[in-house]
Amino acid sequence: MHPVRIAPSLLASDFSNLRAEIESIERAGCDLLHLDVMDGHFVPNLTFGPLVVEAIKRCASKPLDTHLMIADPWKYADAFLDAGSDWLTFHVEVAGRGDALELLRHIRARGCKAGLSLQPDTPVERLQPFLAEVDLVLVMSVVAGFGGQKFRAGVLPKVQALRDMGFAGEISMDGGIGPETIAESAAAGTNVFVAGTAVFGAEDRAARIDHLRQVAEKASLARDRGGKGGGR
Ligand code: DX5
Ligand code: ZN
Repeated sequence: MHPVRIAPSLLASDFSNLRAEIESIERAGCDLLHLDVMDGHFVPNLTFGPLVVEAIKRCASKPLDTHLMIADPWKYADAFLDAGSDWLTFHVEVAGRGDALELLRHIRARGCKAGLSLQPDTPVERLQPFLAEVDLVLVMSVVAGFGGQKFRAGVLPKVQALRDMGFAGEISMDGGIGPETIAESAAAGTNVFVAGTAVFGAEDRAARIDHLRQVAEKASLARDRGGKGGGR
């Protein structure tokens, strides 16, 4: 239904050479640039803020998929929208701290795709009250906070559960996605694949992105045709 999209996470890039890193993955054929924003509160780690997103926007030609792992998205959403985010996602675990529906509507009204993410241990039902205003669900397949963690296959049933709840938007999976795990993720119904280590750590990034795309497309196709265990 939605196209396969490969979204390298810049968390795994060489920050001392960001412009060259962005040009490298765009040349290699990525679809989106995934930007991991961490505030030291919602997650223990700290990364970067709107100033760096704005600088990335000046180098990038692909859309910016900004993933806010922050405790107060109400305070900072506009700064990340002004900085040039094209997709803006925050976490359902903070939804009780403000009016999440209003924030999703606001992101959409500013011409951006509105996303909601959930940690591996958060039940998918928590998304239900918000889905009507969501363009993208970002399913975490590792605990948010650090790159290079092992993929948790236990989150895969969340994708079908979202479809069963009537969600028709894009579904992204984030954490531990690579040549060994992308097929099962795509077979579950994911269409956006965030990959940090697997893309930036590859010797030939174009070959890696091509390979990831091919495996994901094959598994998605098998799934659409009703094939069991697509991706083989
Ligand atoms: C984790 C981030 C991910 C992560 C992906 O908190 O949201 O985007 O950096 O990195 P890999 O692909 O290395 O797991
Ligand atoms: Zn992320």
